[in-house]
Amino acid sequence: MSMNDILLEVNDLHAGIEGKEILKGINLTIRPGEVHAIMGPNGSGKSTLSGVLAGDPRFTVTSGSACFHGVDLLSLSPENRSHEGLFLSFQYPVEIPGVSMVNFMRAAVNAKRKYFNEAPLSAGDFLKLMRQKRAVVELDNKLASRSVNEGFSGGEKKRNEIFQMAVLEPRLSILDETDSGLDIDALRIVASGVNKLKTDHNATIVITHYQRLLDYIRPDFVHILYKGRIVYSGGSELALELEEKGYDWIKEQVDGQEQS
Ligand SMILES: Nc1ncnc2c1ncn2[C@@H]1O[C@H](COP(=O)(O)OP(=O)(O)OP(=O)(O)O)[C@@H](O)[C@H]1O
Ligand SMILES: [Mg+2]
Repeated sequence: MSMNDILLEVNDLHAGIEGKEILKGINLTIRPGEVHAIMGPNGSGKSTLSGVLAGDPRFTVTSGSACFHGVDLLSLSPENRSHEGLFLSFQYPVEIPGVSMVNFMRAAVNAKRKYFNEAPLSAGDFLKLMRQKRAVVELDNKLASRSVNEGFSGGEKKRNEIFQMAVLEPRLSILDETDSGLDIDALRIVASGVNKLKTDHNATIVITHYQRLLDYIRPDFVHILYKGRIVYSGGSELALELEEKGYDWIKEQVDGQEQS
């Protein structure tokens, strides 16, 4: 894949929930090797956008398109979106009692292999893969044998998530960050994971409220989502500007235009 290829092209995407429109025409182009940050006030539609891209069935797409390395993303089941290389970390990760991390990951890896008509990994090869990827994110072996996210601390959930990302080697990762619940160590885990896993062939979308995460993950582009639209895009300096000025200047601009 050359650097000129487009990994994700979202075009005039409209989507909502229970008849209420939330996304009102999203346009977004992401190329391999890029890191994009999406910021914006509470309720602007950031998690909705990631949910819609991942195929969360709660949302209904009413118009627009999303092309993922040449594939019509919106026509795929959530599972197949993941097999095609889309990874979504949740703002509020789910716990899966009774299913160990190892078994969860084995199922995920082998489901992806099956999708590409490959035989399941042997037990030996799977353990080798786990060891390799655990080292990348410095994940404790004990954590890997526990139930998925059950009783995990915020930082452990983050580490776990980055571990899943490392194992699945997605083309595009969307990280919807809680920020507020994350201490500085958790921020570093996320950031160093993203930075370590970054290649010329994959890309990341980081959703965050605060500049501090972006001190560690340097975005190539920053987008501001407001009222279901990307109303402003810029380079990494835009995040600093927001930190300094808040969202009022954006709101005034957009709301002013709406009234006139
Ligand atoms: N399940 C739902 N039912 C009804 N409304 C919803 C649902 N999910 C989201 N919404 C609405 O959609 C809008 C956008 O929500 P969303 O979670 O995408 O915002 P966000 O930008 O991620 O906010 P935050 O910064 O607080 O995470 C909000 O008005 C929210 O109330
Ligand atoms: Mg959100």
